[in-house]
Amino acid sequence: MQASAQAQPNIALIKYWGKRDVESNLPAADSLSVTLDTLWTRMSLEFDERLKQDTLDVNGFIAPSMLARVSHCLDLVVGNARAFARVQSSSNFPIGAGLASSASAFAALVVAADQATGSHLETNALARLAGAASGSAARSLFGGFVELTAGDEKIEVREIADSASWPLEIIVAVTAEGPKALGSTDAMIRSARTSPFYSSWLEQQAADMEIARQAVQQKDFAKLAAVAEHNCLKMHSVMWGSRPPIVYWNQATIACMETVRALQADGHSVFFTIDAGPQLKAVCLPEDGDYVRAALEQTGGVIRVLQSGLGAGARLLEQV
Ligand code: DP6
Repeated sequence: MQASAQAQPNIALIKYWGKRDVESNLPAADSLSVTLDTLWTRMSLEFDERLKQDTLDVNGFIAPSMLARVSHCLDLVVGNARAFARVQSSSNFPIGAGLASSASAFAALVVAADQATGSHLETNALARLAGAASGSAARSLFGGFVELTAGDEKIEVREIADSASWPLEIIVAVTAEGPKALGSTDAMIRSARTSPFYSSWLEQQAADMEIARQAVQQKDFAKLAAVAEHNCLKMHSVMWGSRPPIVYWNQATIACMETVRALQADGHSVFFTIDAGPQLKAVCLPEDGDYVRAALEQTGGVIRVLQSGLGAGARLLEQV
């Protein structure tokens, strides 16, 4: 009744922003992401009949704020009549700052829980369970380029190209650390209720997905860059148009965008994307990776830079 698993965060190039159903956490539209390799979350869990409640330890500290979501996720995988669990999580990147730490955490959690209870569900079933906890987590069950299709009742997730077929680099410019002021669930609900741009955002998503899918199949960097930046800025326009407005950027986020624009003007193959936080993620061809990294490191307000290629989906770890 114990198991450990690892998952990496994923970065959406075509974003999930909005829920078809808040209760079951079904996304309102499709999304397309890349799974990273050097940033990870590891989850170890043990079900123990002697425990009086679930316990959660994140990077060596008791983490009561995340416990309810973790317990709910375990209920979904194992059922309500389960034994309580001791859960330990560790990550090598900042938590709750728009770096998809919930994606890697819940992807690893469902894989570990599935193994610990001997359920052996297929990967899409695990993706649905992870997605019920955090929409983006469903994509971290798969590696490389991942497409999530949002049906009326359930999602389908699949790898559309593996990490080796088009080895892009991701450079994350960390511009603030610590948890964000407004979580993505609340922010999405607010956008759906109040942003005048929300319905057109959803209407255009299928067209953006199709262009991105073609760009990945054709390995057309310029095409992927154009649609990914457009989709990202459109999502943030939905947020900015919400009431009260949702602005996750800081000065350094904008400075990083200017750095990417300057790199593009110099002929480098790079584009940016930004999620529900102030970090900028630059996506580039491997030959531009070190140059892009150095340029972002020198950008005012950048605290540190993380670099990653594309990696595999969530998987079991050997027991220690
Ligand atoms: C901006 O998956 O964190 O990163 O389902 O409410 O947990 P919940 O949201 P979450 O939202 C991620 C939003 C995004 C875009 C994306 O990853 O697609």
